[in-house]
Amino acid sequence: MKIEIIDLKKRFQEEKIEILECIKRVLKKGNLILTPEVANFEKSICKFTGSKYCLGVNSGTDALMMSLWGAGISRGDEVITSPISFIASVSSIIHVGAKPVFVDVDNDLNIKPDLIQSAITKKTKAIMPVHWTGRVCQMDKILQIAKKHNLIVIEDAAQSMGAYFNNKHAGTYGKISAFSTHPLKNLNALGDGGFVITNEKKLYNKIKLYRNHGLKGRDNVEIIGVNSRLDSLHAEVLNFRLKRLKNIIERKQSNINLYRKLINNNKVHIIEDKKTEKNAYVMFVTLCEERDKLQKYLQKFKIQSLIYYKTPLHLHKATKFLGYKKGDFFNAEKFTKKVISFPHHQHLKKKEIEFICKKINDFYS
Ligand SMILES: Cc1ncc(COP(=O)(O)O)c(C=O)c1O
Repeated sequence: MKIEIIDLKKRFQEEKIEILECIKRVLKKGNLILTPEVANFEKSICKFTGSKYCLGVNSGTDALMMSLWGAGISRGDEVITSPISFIASVSSIIHVGAKPVFVDVDNDLNIKPDLIQSAITKKTKAIMPVHWTGRVCQMDKILQIAKKHNLIVIEDAAQSMGAYFNNKHAGTYGKISAFSTHPLKNLNALGDGGFVITNEKKLYNKIKLYRNHGLKGRDNVEIIGVNSRLDSLHAEVLNFRLKRLKNIIERKQSNINLYRKLINNNKVHIIEDKKTEKNAYVMFVTLCEERDKLQKYLQKFKIQSLIYYKTPLHLHKATKFLGYKKGDFFNAEKFTKKVISFPHHQHLKKKEIEFICKKINDFYS
């Protein structure tokens, strides 16, 4: 039996009728850009997250860049963020002309709030916490620090649709937040997509103009913008999938509970969820001894696993110019040697998880 970590083919089978209906509905109308489907999706996101405004855009990366740009982050500013993330967290900061400043992670792989204070300089303008794997950062502490130092908080919520901290949805803590609807996210489009949420009307209006070439009407360019619109086809599919999001997260959560029950050795560490957090589990990242050997061993039994990621952000060739070196972030470097994700998607059968756990336990016995 081959057990894949990506579920998209099975997902299509489960939702085939509804997805094809979504596509038909949009195509029949003969209008594909910034149609009511996009506005409907934005409204649904506001209702789901409790945010006042939402704008659908082309990707999570664009959502991040527009959030930073909209919040006024620019050349010479420093933005504090985590060394454990996808490169887009950092490239978005660099693309608006600012400098990413890393702060090490805690045992939950998210930025450690206690270390933020010492990274603040006169140039620090914002903190960008990344809710890695779908677990919201300790936003109470982060907001306290931001308030004390008059810093803007921009959440990289790319992985955290459906995640909560103290019963408040991810992305509703900061000035503005960026989400991804990439196919591998829990709320996923048929290709690239993303959105921003904010409670500030001025910011919403600014980004609304920016995502569509700065156009106010057909022939009136107010500012120089970009083309970063969420396609109507994606919006319609996302609107349908939003109704199923809770169910998908629950199924993933239940699979992880089975892993917790069946893995019977201390070489595999599954990070506990605190009472204050509801993890969306976009990825199921565990910390394992002899990670690379384990991965090879599982391959022999056709069990796929993935590593997010082997290299912390400060040690890439592309980020060398920031001046960091090996040894700068102890936890990030230690954990990236151990991280490995096992299949946990909503289509897995109980016997498949039992098989994976047995093989993991066998490896360490
Ligand atoms: C933490 C994080 N930030 C930003 C992004 C970028 O999102 P996108 O791939 O939609 O551009 C991702 C995508 O995986 C991500 O995981």
